[in-house]
Amino acid sequence: MDSRYLRTVLAQWATGVVVLTTRTEEGGHHGMTASSFTSVALDPPLVSVCVASDSTTCRLIRSSGVFAVNVLGCDHEEIGRRFATASATDRFAVGDWDIATTGTAVLTDAVAWIDCVVAACYPAGDHTIVLGLVQDAATPRPAAPLIYHDRTYYEGIAR
Ligand SMILES: Cc1cc2nc3c(=O)[nH]c(=O)nc-3n(C[C@H](O)[C@H](O)[C@H](O)COP(=O)(O)O)c2cc1C
Repeated sequence: MDSRYLRTVLAQWATGVVVLTTRTEEGGHHGMTASSFTSVALDPPLVSVCVASDSTTCRLIRSSGVFAVNVLGCDHEEIGRRFATASATDRFAVGDWDIATTGTAVLTDAVAWIDCVVAACYPAGDHTIVLGLVQDAATPRPAAPLIYHDRTYYEGIAR
């Protein structure tokens, strides 16, 4: 299977957009945009994300043992783009950030956030499936979600 073609096929799956945040070794914050978030179980409360194993975020999630999932609203496209950009710009310069129970950064106006400790990491090809045990969660703002489809951002339908 040609991987470029497969990416185009998989891009037809519409998803929400999240920013994964985690802690650096120096006590700072790091994060990246992701679409691979999935709810896994309620008892115990488990969620998963799938991150490139060579990404900084994957390395820091493994070393810190914590991460948060920030579900972006329809007006968070700039944040979604910023946290996917490889350049060295301060990704947290945009957005109003608070600190959750595990020390991760959470958006004060996220549609939802989920704060986790790492329960398990499973190698999966060039990615790592990270299973998170939920420590805390909130729905700060009842806004329409940001949607990603065919490499384009869309505004979700408001409640
Ligand atoms: C909408 C969108 C969804 C993304 N989803 C994922 C994902 O689920 N897993 C992943 O590893 N990268 C994903 N990426 C790519 C990362 O955001 C990007 O590679 C980022 O620069 C990684 O940062 P880091 O190397 O500092 O961790 C996505 C990018 C976009 C724009």
